[in-house]
Amino acid sequence: MRTTSVPRLPLLLLLALIWPGGAGGVRITELDVPAVALEGDDVHLRCDYEDEGGSSLYTLKWYKDDQEFFRHQPGRAPREGDDHCRDHHLYHVDGVTVDCWVSTERDVVLQSVTKATSGDYQCEVIGEHPKFRKETRRARLTIFSEDLRAPLLLGAEESYSLMDYVTLNCSSLNTEYMPELTWLINNRPANQSMVREVDSRTAGLVFQVRPEHFQRGEINVACVTSLGPRHKMSTPVQLPNRDGPSVKGYFFNTGHRMEASGALFILATLSQLRTLASPAL
Ligand SMILES: *[C@@H]1O[C@H](CO)[C@@H](O)[C@H](O)[C@H]1NC(C)=O
Ligand SMILES: *[C@@H]1O[C@H](CO)[C@@H](O)[C@H](O)[C@H]1NC(C)=O
Repeated sequence: MRTTSVPRLPLLLLLALIWPGGAGGVRITELDVPAVALEGDDVHLRCDYEDEGGSSLYTLKWYKDDQEFFRHQPGRAPREGDDHCRDHHLYHVDGVTVDCWVSTERDVVLQSVTKATSGDYQCEVIGEHPKFRKETRRARLTIFSEDLRAPLLLGAEESYSLMDYVTLNCSSLNTEYMPELTWLINNRPANQSMVREVDSRTAGLVFQVRPEHFQRGEINVACVTSLGPRHKMSTPVQLPNRDGPSVKGYFFNTGHRMEASGALFILATLSQLRTLASPAL
């Protein structure tokens, strides 16, 4: 009867929505593709997912520039003769070599990348029957061939007095790309208010010398250049205190001045260490 069949369709839809296996899918919770890497690196790609509403994973696939190179399909092992990595299917794509030993369905490692590895990487997950709901995410990876070079640090004076201004320039010597430049003062990141953008390849550092800057008679400044999380080069410089005693005149880690010869200094340090080592005496 027509009058009773009309409300049945919405009811079924409602059931499909609240039914545990029917409503869900598989959701990508994290896509991690590094933006940059250098030739020869192993590049770690991560696509994490979670089941939603009782559905489970039907397939997880990786594509480079829309060409599939990796497929994980639970319960469907590759057949004899298929290109595979344990129970994952592999497909040939130029510039992509999957490191089979360390790759899992969530973490795929590309071995010894080349410029041909650059491209758009996409992870696709599809949930199980009956919806086969699909979700994709993508990110760009760029491979450079030029090694990261230690930056050029200019402008250091021979020595500094309190209240003097330290004015330094740090320039990247790389030509193929512009790495990130950061400044460290005594091994800590410099306050952003001290950093100046001089030009597209140079970062400046300007600060006024205060007593706490001197550690055992000098300020340790370094310019660090980095590309992605794995490549870092540092150019350090020591800025001595013009008015203070030489570095040797400072007592080990206290900053107090020692009016003693080097030998006495060492003896004093040793006796301090012994006191520390045997507090009961
Ligand atoms: C830093 O570079 C700028 C721009 O080239 C220049 O004007 C300035 O004198 C440089 N400073 C130092 C300390 O070299
Ligand atoms: C950075 O410098 C600003 C301005 O000189 C100052 O207000 C701020 O407290 C400094 N931050 C740190 C972490 O030292």
